[in-house]
Amino acid sequence: MKKFVCALLAGVMSMSLLAGCGSKPTEPDANAPADGGENNTTAGETLRMVTNAAFAPYEFVDDNGEVAGIDAEIAAAIAEKLGMKLEITDMAFESLLPALQSGSADIILAGMTVNAERQESVDFTDSYAKGVQVIIVPEGSEIAGPDDLNGKQIGVQTGTTGDQYCSDTPENGGFGEDAVQRYDNGPLAVAALLNGQVDAVVIDNEPAKALVAANEGLKILDTAYTDEDYAAAVQKGNTELLDKVNAALEELKADGTIDEILAKYIHE
Ligand code: ARG
Repeated sequence: MKKFVCALLAGVMSMSLLAGCGSKPTEPDANAPADGGENNTTAGETLRMVTNAAFAPYEFVDDNGEVAGIDAEIAAAIAEKLGMKLEITDMAFESLLPALQSGSADIILAGMTVNAERQESVDFTDSYAKGVQVIIVPEGSEIAGPDDLNGKQIGVQTGTTGDQYCSDTPENGGFGEDAVQRYDNGPLAVAALLNGQVDAVVIDNEPAKALVAANEGLKILDTAYTDEDYAAAVQKGNTELLDKVNAALEELKADGTIDEILAKYIHE
């Protein structure tokens, strides 16, 4: 599994290539302040969060059409501490970083993994959860671990760390561009797996568990990839908001709120 740790680091270098491939560029918000939204975190104002709500249990659209899940609850707790109103917008995963950069959003909570490439364009808060990349295959698949993915078609969500690792070159521990089929979200990648369009899906462990529970005939391989840290992200240089969110997170960790929210959605 060491190979995937290297792949993580190396994959980081190739993200700039992937960043150009998004099919849904974010339209800059006409109402966004021209200064890029900095210094607008005064109490009483709105905390504009963006996410990609096809990543249960971190974020999903509930029966009322609202974005729910771990990240929505953590963001609500943070907003409350900051005396701000929370507004959540659902968008394509690869549009999240551009939304922050253009100033049309204040914060991302999206089960987003901290990595060096992303740190060049946004600032990450302290981590609030961990993730692991896993492989989903059909029951009875001959694929038993990462090495067996050689020569197979792998489904991933566009722009995610799973995409980075898998599409990287073999020298960097990946399987190459041709091995990867990109989908707008995890459920679509899993639908392609059920249709036989791909041989495996690489995705974070908790969404993997939810997807396997919701679909018959699939299993998660025991071989875990590299560990990842999930954190919120704010616009680069917005230290005012970064410090406030980190202070809120510290209190929410200390008083058990974060653990409570995680335990509500994650059952080992
Ligand atoms: N942890 C992975 C990453 O940061 C996947 C996150 C996908 N999140 C989502 N809300 N769809 O790349």
